[in-house]
Amino acid sequence: MKYSKIIGTGAYLPSKILSNKDLEKIFDTSDEWIQTRTGISQRHIIGENERTSDLAYQAALDVLKNSSIDPAEIDLILVATTTPDKVFPSVACAVQRKLNIKNIPAFDIQAVCSGFIFALTTADSFIKSGTYKKILVIGADSMSSITDYKDRSNAILWGDGAGAVILSASNEPGIIRNIIHSNGEYEELLHVPRKSETNDPNTIEMQGNAVFKIAVNTLDQIVDETLSGSGFEKKDIDWLVPHQANIRILQATAKKLEMSMDKVIVTIDKHGNTSAASIPLALNEGIRSNRVKAGNLILMEAFGGGFTWGSSLIRI
Ligand code: UT7
Repeated sequence: MKYSKIIGTGAYLPSKILSNKDLEKIFDTSDEWIQTRTGISQRHIIGENERTSDLAYQAALDVLKNSSIDPAEIDLILVATTTPDKVFPSVACAVQRKLNIKNIPAFDIQAVCSGFIFALTTADSFIKSGTYKKILVIGADSMSSITDYKDRSNAILWGDGAGAVILSASNEPGIIRNIIHSNGEYEELLHVPRKSETNDPNTIEMQGNAVFKIAVNTLDQIVDETLSGSGFEKKDIDWLVPHQANIRILQATAKKLEMSMDKVIVTIDKHGNTSAASIPLALNEGIRSNRVKAGNLILMEAFGGGFTWGSSLIRI
């Protein structure tokens, strides 16, 4: 079998909701400003005793159920996350323990908002090399745990959740093309510094406007790079399933693809930016809502801290 294919998706969102109206009570903002500038109206937030591995585990149970796969069939667990429960061990090892799967490798991938694309690319390589046949790939983040709720320009964006897929060896494509890139030069524009000398919690620091401009330009370029030499053109793409950072970034990428917004899976209004979870959550939403159908050609793309960025062109 020379291809890899997504054979199921799953998702989990914590039950607690933080609406724009709730944020109006925390700092000087308005529902109208947040909706206009970001497209977000609410986000899901972990409960007091919930951690990223709990979200990841629930998404794993959902994808296993949806794809009728027994945990014993999984050869590798990859979790894309920036908000692990602990410095170590990894969230992937916690998911492995919770699923009671023994003696398979499990590890985390840290590429912030692009993490799911990086994890999917890694899983695809393991399958195409013949090393593994079924890989559980999860994107899970609890961004609220690293959000500074005193910083209104930043705190409005982030939400928590987890999405998962099973990537399987297949006789038909599947994953057509993955592209991943990193550039460490702009670290200071979007980062979580360590503040070990103080007791302050480590929280996201972002120069949102600068990041926004670089994200739009970079995603523009990745559309061309993904399609060039792929054998496909813009008009062939059925669905854009993007990382959900800001509705205005999604609109810019759709415009570049000459695609109407009805062909873009949008979850940012309800989920906010869930970092590595946002693409698998959106893919699951597209499938569960009967919009994304078997045989569709899908472009997934992301841009995030690092900077990191990437895309996957897939046949579902
Ligand atoms: O997923 C990883 C990558 N991350 C991104 O791609 C995020 C990219 N950045 C963004 O999405 C946007 O830059 C933000 C949503 C973070 C900010 O939107 P913006 O349109 O870039 O606003 P800004 O920071 O340029 O601020 C414009 C104005 C300022 O007021 P003045 O100086 O013009 O008077 C801010 O103080 O909006 C003000 N402002 C707010 N007003 C009400 C900033 N945040 C808020 C707020 N409520 N929450």
